[in-house]
Amino acid sequence: MSPPQNQKHERLGSLLSSRRVILSVGCGGVGKTTTTAALGLAAARRGLRVLCLTIDPARRLAQSLGLEWSSSEARVVDAALLARVGVPPSGSMTIMRVDTKATFDGLVRSLAPTKERAERILNNVLYTYISTSLAGTQEYMAMEKLHSLRDDPRFDLILLDTPPTTNALDFLDAPERLVGAIDSPAIRWFVQAVEGSGRLSFSLMARSTAMLLRGLGKVTGGGFLEQVASFINEMNSLFGGWKQRADAVSATLRAPDVAYVLVTTPDPLAIREVTFFAERLLAEKMRPDAIVVNRVNPAFPRTDPTALGSMQALSPQHAEQLAGRCEAALRDAHGQGHLDRLHLFALDTVREESGAPAVFVPTFPADVYDLEALSEISEILAPST
Ligand SMILES: Nc1ncnc2c1ncn2[C@@H]1O[C@H](COP(=O)(O)OP(=O)(O)OP(=O)(O)O)[C@@H](O)[C@H]1O
Ligand SMILES: [Mg+2]
Repeated sequence: MSPPQNQKHERLGSLLSSRRVILSVGCGGVGKTTTTAALGLAAARRGLRVLCLTIDPARRLAQSLGLEWSSSEARVVDAALLARVGVPPSGSMTIMRVDTKATFDGLVRSLAPTKERAERILNNVLYTYISTSLAGTQEYMAMEKLHSLRDDPRFDLILLDTPPTTNALDFLDAPERLVGAIDSPAIRWFVQAVEGSGRLSFSLMARSTAMLLRGLGKVTGGGFLEQVASFINEMNSLFGGWKQRADAVSATLRAPDVAYVLVTTPDPLAIREVTFFAERLLAEKMRPDAIVVNRVNPAFPRTDPTALGSMQALSPQHAEQLAGRCEAALRDAHGQGHLDRLHLFALDTVREESGAPAVFVPTFPADVYDLEALSEISEILAPST
């Protein structure tokens, strides 16, 4: 079985200079943040002004870039630090953490017809829940931020590190889902029941529903249902603007100057996830632009007499013991590398269907958090010319 090899992959390099936005997509923990930062570095090395948008506080990585991570302000990586890994003065790297709640607050403020209405929404207890915990909010706000920055003249390229969802598809659907949650028939019905007075009108409801809601009101107490009703009513006033905005965000995700880099490891579940995602893109007449296969184990030989010989020469009195250990370690490493290559066959179909090149990144001996390791990965992904 031939080992995965990186042949020619100018493709990733050319994406850096030909696209406006690059999204790294994949399931949790596969290396999306690492890939985004490494691609950002590769682009900065090409003299581009890069913005890396992330939700995920990869603290150690941020620290090694000299950034403190508590703020969601845009942080510019020190030019002297970047120069150390070959970034010319024209290139730069800015990192911005997407603050989900602050982005949502901004959206509410920009869409509400009056300041007072915006404040009423922002102060509603339900808003806190929706803006921080509702499934899909994080994904949507990342897209929202991307949309608001995509024409920013300070940057040549924007890289978005998608949130650590378990399902990569979540974020492609996020705009529609969040709007759908607000425009659902159940909510429209609820709004109808409260329209006008802002209070829940039981007379408009079927008797059984009214009884159910009265019962619920008793359990939750404290005017909770009225809070829900008034919240939905207020949110409804944003709806037209929001729907339009979500359509624009959705269009941003599907624009031709956006590239999708699918990130996976050789793990079958991660491969399955990027395969689903690639199929979804193809079904929408888009295509993945590259597949990064991260954390591939090296193809160790089953035996290595030269290595064993030199170890035994160092410690002849333990020759027999060393032979046993060396054999076991090589067997394990060989087995792992072999297994990775077997799993990677599952990517063949998607590679053929989409024409996306795969770039293989080996497992590093330790976590990738310093600039030098990041630079090494960026050279694998998009080698400097
Ligand atoms: N090739 C590699 N070799 C060794 N460690 C790696 C490699 N790539 C990534 N890592 C490490 O694996 C961990 C997960 O990587 P990363 O944070 O980039 O994944 P992620 O997909 O962004 O995760 P999440 O879904 O949680 O956001 C990090 O500690 C990172 O340093
Ligand atoms: Mg991440």
